[in-house]
Amino acid sequence: MTSARLHLDGKDYELPVVRGSEGETGIVIDQLRSSSGAITLDPGFTSTGACRSAITFIDGAKGILRYRGYPIEQLAEHSDFAEVAYLLLYGELPTQEQSAAFRADLTYHSMIHEDMKKFFEGFPPNAHPMAILSAMVASLSTYYPGTEEESNEINFVRLIAKVRTLAAYAYKKSIGQPTIYPRNDLSYCANFLHMMFAVPAEEYVINPVLVRALNMLLILHADHEQNCSTSTVRMVGSSRANIFASISSGICALWGPLHGGANQAVLEMLQMIADDGSGYQKWIDRAKDKDDSFRLMGFGHRVYKNYDPRATILRKMAADVLDELGVSDPLLDIARDLERVALEDEYFVERNLYPNVDFYSGILYRAMGIPTNMFTVMFAIGRLPGWLAHWKELREDDSSRIYRPRQIYTGYTERTYQPIESR
Ligand code: CMC
Repeated sequence: MTSARLHLDGKDYELPVVRGSEGETGIVIDQLRSSSGAITLDPGFTSTGACRSAITFIDGAKGILRYRGYPIEQLAEHSDFAEVAYLLLYGELPTQEQSAAFRADLTYHSMIHEDMKKFFEGFPPNAHPMAILSAMVASLSTYYPGTEEESNEINFVRLIAKVRTLAAYAYKKSIGQPTIYPRNDLSYCANFLHMMFAVPAEEYVINPVLVRALNMLLILHADHEQNCSTSTVRMVGSSRANIFASISSGICALWGPLHGGANQAVLEMLQMIADDGSGYQKWIDRAKDKDDSFRLMGFGHRVYKNYDPRATILRKMAADVLDELGVSDPLLDIARDLERVALEDEYFVERNLYPNVDFYSGILYRAMGIPTNMFTVMFAIGRLPGWLAHWKELREDDSSRIYRPRQIYTGYTERTYQPIESR
């Protein structure tokens, strides 16, 4: 089939069909409005493709996730975050020389301008680190205003390098400790842990278990095709807004509890269940009750109608890492029990609601000493290479146009203005 036929108001319209490299089918409707006057309506974009993309493939029914063709399971086991960031941005795994140069760039650009440290002083002590991060990333554009096409390659590196410094500074600010400068002898993830947890008075010893766990967590978050925050980055980027403004808007979109904010919400939910102490059934019943706004956080996904492959990796990893660190966390037991009960419950089975990436990631972050309000910041650090790859793809696509959806207007038809005294 190379075209689809639409019959509307007595007329037939021939619509071209495109196929993706994995056999996905798309009906091209970009000329529909000019030829028929009609638009398609798809709130939440359940059946709408906004672009062609060669970055990430997901098969939600089979639980498949691949970056540039490589299965997520292989990347999580054998790669590290810097290499995956390179893969997403440039489409291929780096050679040894490319890898060394990219890592050197990430190290070289990890400091932020000294003046920017003053910005942190202006935020209240309990400011959410996602608010600080989005403001700081937008502020980077004031230091690197020459954001024309030729300078963006360096801005991609700057952003990946600096975002972890900004995140760690936001944390240090929130606990009233002095900020810690990055070190040139440390890898990407080790450097982040150093900036988060070192204090000037003593030497901080980097634990390789934490470095490995952080690499895996960031890899699992690195891209997820046209999700809410990535679509936001593309939407903002389509207006030709600069890279810093586009990424800052992605951070804001990620913050919501239905998206990246779910990892914080999961931990808060597990803690609430632990504190309540009255068992799981009450919470399962509340999640099923349509009159109750409570949802089982970390469950369900727009695309996965099967176990989220990232959750499968994280479930095992949470147990292994806690074991290696010698940490026992009652919230992990609660999470496992909740999962077991939910997966046997007809409501969750019927709707294909499985644990998603956020269900177990918070337990890992907690074991690593990362506070709950930093969880979504961790997601943002991980997702950044994906956002950048999509922004780059959009800008390199000569056929891309400003994103501008249509609507079906449901308000008043024309009426006449009434002066205030006669209303
Ligand atoms: N608990 C209880 N019921 C749920 C849940 C849940 N977590 N998720 C979906 N449902 C129900 C929902 O009420 C609806 O039922 P019905 O058909 O009877 O009206 C049905 O399942 C379909 O849900 P939906 O809200 O129409 O699905 P969606 O694709 O619009 O939303 C979601 C996807 C992830 C926003 C949603 O599943 C949810 O709110 N989950 C909890 C928040 C969460 O964990 N978010 C993280 C997503 S993964 C990380 C990321 O990529 O951001």
